[in-house]
Amino acid sequence: MNIAIVGTGYVGLVSGTCFAELGAHVTCVDINAQKIESLRKGEIPIYEPNLDSMVLRNVKADRLHFTTDLASVLDEVEIVFSAVGTPPDEDGSADLRYVLEVARTVGQHMNKYLVMVTKSTVPVGTARKVKAAIQAELDKRGVQVEFDVASNPEFLKEGNAIDDFMKPDRVVVGVESERAKELMTRLYKPMLLNNFRVIFMDIPSAEMTKYAANSMLATRISFMNDIANLCELVGADVNMVRKGIGTDSRIGSKFLYPGCGYGGSCFPKDVKALIKTAAKNGYNMRVLNAVEAVNESQKNILFEKFEKYFNGDIKGKKVAVWGLAFKPETDDMREAPALVLIDSLLKAGCEVCAYDPVAMDECKRRIGNLISYGKNMYDTVIDAVAIFHVTEWKEFRMPSWGVIKKAMKETPVLIDGRNVFSASELEGITYLKIG
Ligand code: UDX
Repeated sequence: MNIAIVGTGYVGLVSGTCFAELGAHVTCVDINAQKIESLRKGEIPIYEPNLDSMVLRNVKADRLHFTTDLASVLDEVEIVFSAVGTPPDEDGSADLRYVLEVARTVGQHMNKYLVMVTKSTVPVGTARKVKAAIQAELDKRGVQVEFDVASNPEFLKEGNAIDDFMKPDRVVVGVESERAKELMTRLYKPMLLNNFRVIFMDIPSAEMTKYAANSMLATRISFMNDIANLCELVGADVNMVRKGIGTDSRIGSKFLYPGCGYGGSCFPKDVKALIKTAAKNGYNMRVLNAVEAVNESQKNILFEKFEKYFNGDIKGKKVAVWGLAFKPETDDMREAPALVLIDSLLKAGCEVCAYDPVAMDECKRRIGNLISYGKNMYDTVIDAVAIFHVTEWKEFRMPSWGVIKKAMKETPVLIDGRNVFSASELEGITYLKIG
């Protein structure tokens, strides 16, 4: 089966490579010539465990190709996936410029039936717009070519994307014709054979499923952050409460971890976009407004704890930040809690030294030398009065606390934004956690 995937960003590259791994003949398309050139050489522009070897393997097997020219592959492919970006507009709605541009290119150059599938996270109603954009181009050309649109949202977690693709909880496909359903069934056949669930539904429901799933997960996190903050006030331990409620099978134990707020490219954007979609339809998403408000304030909670610990006397103090990426196993810093923390620390006149196993280049690109960067976690704590544990990388798990305590100054404190340490292991460093 021949398919094209437009957009070699995170979603496009992972999906294209995984489809190739499942046996499809895949062409990944991007307008960025430099990126395509690098990909052809096997250079992967993002950090995702095991992606590089999988790309190389499939390029070698002649199942994975890269091009800048979408038009040139349209005669060969049965399905075109659009996995281009949908960045938020100033008002929080998803910007569909790139998605519609792909649709127009397809309409301008297609000569035979194909299914145009949207993989990017797009608001309900986008497939209809994609269909209209393709049809308008066909009309301009004065040709009649049959096509279908479909929606196949992704549920990939950064850092675990390959596993999420290959062993999905479910695949959601929105279609409006039997012909498109049959093609999508063929594409996902290897998954069906392995008993993974592929759920077919109408297109608006598929588009809505993606937003509802991410918004539900974001809601769990903000709910737990609220519970954690209340636990502190009433003398309860949120780690115990989490275990206590997570064992209820109706609740489940995943995504119940309080912390310093959710970040990344999906939750913040999708929650905002769903609030906007609702508003455009005259509906107020009351729960999601609160989810967002809690997350905004939670991103500043580590700084507030620090300020309180030193009774506001923090100007000129040196602090260490462990972890910059919005979560482990990625160099992504979009909406990262670390950025909010660093901003507050700098505004308060603190000196910040940070370390992250992979996201330091990304941080330098964003804020340059406003802070200094350590060679490792130990390097950051020299003369520091506080450590902020922001991203729960595995390599931070078992430090030599004695060495760290010796290097620090005053009455050192560790403020754990991920609740992975315990007061008893810290050898004299004060321990503050979330909840
Ligand atoms: C998410 C969805 O999980 C995925 O299905 C979707 O396709 C894209 O968005 P991702 O943004 O890569 O994936 O990261 P995820 O692992 O879901 O974490 C999101 C944020 O929530 C991170 O900042 C993480 O630290 C935070 N989080 C997660 C918590 O604070 N507590 C939790 O219990 C879980």
